[in-house]
Amino acid sequence: MSNGRIPEEVIEKVLKHHDIVDVVGRYVHLSKQGHYMKGLCPFHSEKTPSFTVTPEKQIYHCYGCGAGGGAIRFLMEIEGFTFIEAINQMAAEANLDLGIDLGSDTPSQQNPEKTKLYEAYEFTGKLYQHILKNTEQGKQAMEYLRSRGLNDKLIDTFGIGYAPSNWDTLAQLLEKRQYALPLMEKGGLLSARQEGQGYFDKFRDRIMFPIHDWKGRLIAFAGRAMGEAQPKYLNSPETMLFHKSKSLYNMHLARPQIRKLQQIVVFEGYMDVIKAWDAGITNGVATMGTALTEEHTDVIRKQADQVTVAYDGDSAGQNAAYKSIPILEQAGCLVKIAMIPNAQDPDDFITHHGSERFVREVIENAVPSIKYKLLYFRKNFKLQEDGEKLRYMQQALKIIADITSPIEREHYVRELSTEFRYSFETTLQNLNEIRLQAEKSSNSGDNKAKAWNNVRNERTPREQTAVSPNQDAERQLLAIMLHDRDVTDYVKQNLGDQFNEDAHAVLAAYLYSYYEQGYEPNASSFIAMLQEEELEGLASSIAMMGNAYWINNQVVDDCISKIKKYKLQQLIKQKTEEMIVAERSGDLKMAGQIGNEITSLVKQLKSS
Ligand code: GTP
Ligand code: MN
Repeated sequence: MSNGRIPEEVIEKVLKHHDIVDVVGRYVHLSKQGHYMKGLCPFHSEKTPSFTVTPEKQIYHCYGCGAGGGAIRFLMEIEGFTFIEAINQMAAEANLDLGIDLGSDTPSQQNPEKTKLYEAYEFTGKLYQHILKNTEQGKQAMEYLRSRGLNDKLIDTFGIGYAPSNWDTLAQLLEKRQYALPLMEKGGLLSARQEGQGYFDKFRDRIMFPIHDWKGRLIAFAGRAMGEAQPKYLNSPETMLFHKSKSLYNMHLARPQIRKLQQIVVFEGYMDVIKAWDAGITNGVATMGTALTEEHTDVIRKQADQVTVAYDGDSAGQNAAYKSIPILEQAGCLVKIAMIPNAQDPDDFITHHGSERFVREVIENAVPSIKYKLLYFRKNFKLQEDGEKLRYMQQALKIIADITSPIEREHYVRELSTEFRYSFETTLQNLNEIRLQAEKSSNSGDNKAKAWNNVRNERTPREQTAVSPNQDAERQLLAIMLHDRDVTDYVKQNLGDQFNEDAHAVLAAYLYSYYEQGYEPNASSFIAMLQEEELEGLASSIAMMGNAYWINNQVVDDCISKIKKYKLQQLIKQKTEEMIVAERSGDLKMAGQIGNEITSLVKQLKSS
């Protein structure tokens, strides 16, 4: 809970002089519902209120988009203030003399484990680059990259490296530099051997593509096998730095151009991004081998309003492109789809036809999403036959019926009627019937992708994901800890940092230190001190869970035991995967060792 130069007394003082209901009430119309106040969330579109303020705890939380925190966080979000700006503003409003000058920059506050891990990734990236460029070991990898058309400049720009085939090149160097190896394992750079037997490198004999966050900090790797080794790409696991469903490869380099053009190109593969960059498309990014998520579109929408999807030309790529359209459009992006002939990917196309044709024929020739949908469905119909033609017309009109702009609708209707030689009027009439029917059957609810006028800074509503029993236990435990110092002490002794969810472990650590500094249980000042948007949202949702359960030792012990069991189960799963990898790579000794370990873990699980 390091908040730089801002003493916690100051935060408490400011909070004491403001009621969250007044602060929020200036922006959101709140109405009382039992212990809560409810209103329309100012951070995402909704028609029924899921934005909740709890006067008793002085916090807010939106069940729709996950926004949450105390009064300070609310001002930061709604006004775009930094932490210090929010504090200064609140102090001025309450005529408070804080007794110190806070200045105006954001305090640098970061969890020390994260800082260390960033440093380790930076070091590892440099090491792999060095091995690729300057050592005998890297020679074959360099030849491979050359054969794929990458020159020195591209290799440097993208920081590509090579992880040697030895088991522990990185592990030894990290140890020598006094990095805590358990942290390096947790951070995805190393894998653990049997209990107490040390660590080995996670990536071996792979071309290493570093993955950066938008600020340019190295946070993960994608390692490509050169031969037929499986998997083709090995990615870093989810860590405190890296979240696959949010990350976009190359965002840090592409951002200036994306903002300038207000346009982004989304590819499927790392190689596509790199080759397209070389071809002059410097606003390209890629997902990490996953489909586009709403979290990605959140990131995209903040930078650009036009998106060109340039996925592989094969049917898998085209299906994925088709599926990305509603996700992007729901976030308010204008979508175009680039089409690549002969099932090639962008990299293949550039290799075969050159940069100029790629830019002109693929990127600049991308078609609007509606046009793409029409073409996409067209393949399924044998248009020489009259019956099929009519069925296609019907399908096409349904797609056109969804267009909101009348001019645009008319454009496509005209195109369709001309091509199939029907009169424009008849076709339009047909379209209007479809629209009328759709209107009748649609229920007017939140599910309509529409922006409502309560919105300030658009956020995408979260999908309601089911909470697993483990998550449930962890949240329950944290909720009790928020209100109870003794339970927190007890959990610290008996569970420590063994929470399975990283974010929960971080919250617990903050709670331990909060109480150790002598503070009394107080959700809103605790949350204010976190100074990290996501953590505040999480903490507020946990604080909102209320005190519905009797706080007794049995509940606490049950939670702890559930969490520990889950940890063991996960460990067994992970070790089993590692054993399979060792077996496949022919390291039977290692496989045997891991096997023994699994046996003892299973025993432990049974007796727990
Ligand atoms: P090259 O084969 O080197 O040209 O790479 P590519 O990017 O064209 O690969 P491909 O089209 O097969 O896959 C597209 C993207 O899917 C990759 O860039 C990866 O992000 C992801 N991907 C492909 N294979 C794997 C895999 O085996 N494991 C994981 N985790 N991701 C993969
Ligand atoms: Mn490829």
